[in-house]
Amino acid sequence: MAATDKPLDFLWFIPSSGDGAYLGSDDLSRPVDPGYFREIATAVDRLGYSGVLIPTGVACEESFVLAADLAARTEQLKFLVAVRPGTASPAYYARLASTLDRVSNGRLLLNIVVGGSAQELAGDGVFLGHDERYDHADEFFKVFNELLETGKSTLDGKFIKAIDARLGLPPVQQPRPPLYFGGSSDAAIDFCGGMIEKYLTWGEPPAQVAEKVERVRKSAAAKGREVSFGIRLHFIVRETDDEAWEAADRLISKLSDEAIEAAQAVFAKASDSVGQARMVALHNGRRDKLEVSPNLWAGIGLVRTGAGTALVGSPKTVAARLREYQEIGIDTVIASGYPHLEEAYRVSELLFPEIGLGGPRNQIRSSFGERQVFGGGGHGGNVKLASAS
Ligand SMILES: Cc1cc2nc3c(=O)[nH]c(=O)nc-3n(C[C@H](O)[C@H](O)[C@H](O)COP(=O)(O)O)c2cc1C
Repeated sequence: MAATDKPLDFLWFIPSSGDGAYLGSDDLSRPVDPGYFREIATAVDRLGYSGVLIPTGVACEESFVLAADLAARTEQLKFLVAVRPGTASPAYYARLASTLDRVSNGRLLLNIVVGGSAQELAGDGVFLGHDERYDHADEFFKVFNELLETGKSTLDGKFIKAIDARLGLPPVQQPRPPLYFGGSSDAAIDFCGGMIEKYLTWGEPPAQVAEKVERVRKSAAAKGREVSFGIRLHFIVRETDDEAWEAADRLISKLSDEAIEAAQAVFAKASDSVGQARMVALHNGRRDKLEVSPNLWAGIGLVRTGAGTALVGSPKTVAARLREYQEIGIDTVIASGYPHLEEAYRVSELLFPEIGLGGPRNQIRSSFGERQVFGGGGHGGNVKLASAS
């Protein structure tokens, strides 16, 4: 079976540090509001997405707590939740992960976030150099994984001391919830080959993604393992290519050059992440050449850290671009769009039919079989046309 024959695993994103219709402007912005996150989660649970990524950071709601709240209100949605080694012990994180997997009945996915800002890490009490963070993570996840898989672990390591650590209650998923991870440095790729199930990349052009996929495959193969691959991208999908590009322009239409400069200066100062540097290198803070590869637009990265690119176009165009990533080996997409509630509907309604995804789940039939056309049927209802047989 060709890589493109299998439908993508398609997740959405919970904007747990805020949302809006325009980047770099307070116009039509939405505050951080638990009720809004519930609206997004319940919508995407019905719209055919398999899960949501919940980010982590000082500006975000705490991801395990938020996931527990959203899990209680959804039926099938999975939650990709960050574990940040160093912010708590592996034994404590194992208890958090196991309980979240239990209360959600096996809907937890774990995202290893080692961190890419020395400043933010110092606030959490982590004072390790860039590459040392991965040595630390290696010890951390040995204990964490062993606890989730067997209920006990001991390690007298260089960074982690866990003496006769125990986990009383096992997770629902066996042997444990899967580990996802994104990091582009050599140290990251060396670390992840031996540890994770799914490697995540931000939305770089296909050639650059292919190069990383190859490096990760080699790193895993050297340890006798296989890893699968996912991509994190924004989407601006409209009925036509022109409309989609207009929407992209509108998203940054209130963004000033000063705001771009200020954001880029903060990234340069606060981040030692190789992945982040690769994102910035796509546009270098310039707004005049943002289509960095066909239909891949870097406008979001002018002011947003992390995922900074969007696929822009009609459903057919975007589906064709996604197939290029699938051919490289990508089987999972973590998508988003501004604002996240409306764009979740757009992506599901316009793009999913083009990429073989089912769209809304749990639909209750809306007729006894007559063909219906929306609108005009009295009180705004449907017009029944004829038998559908
Ligand atoms: C899909 C994806 C999601 C990420 N989510 C977060 C996040 O929620 N919070 C965060 O601080 N870093 C996040 N990161 C950043 C990485 O976890 C990593 O800590 C950082 O980029 C350092 O990597 P480096 O090895 O490329 O230097 C994410 C990266 C990717 C690819």
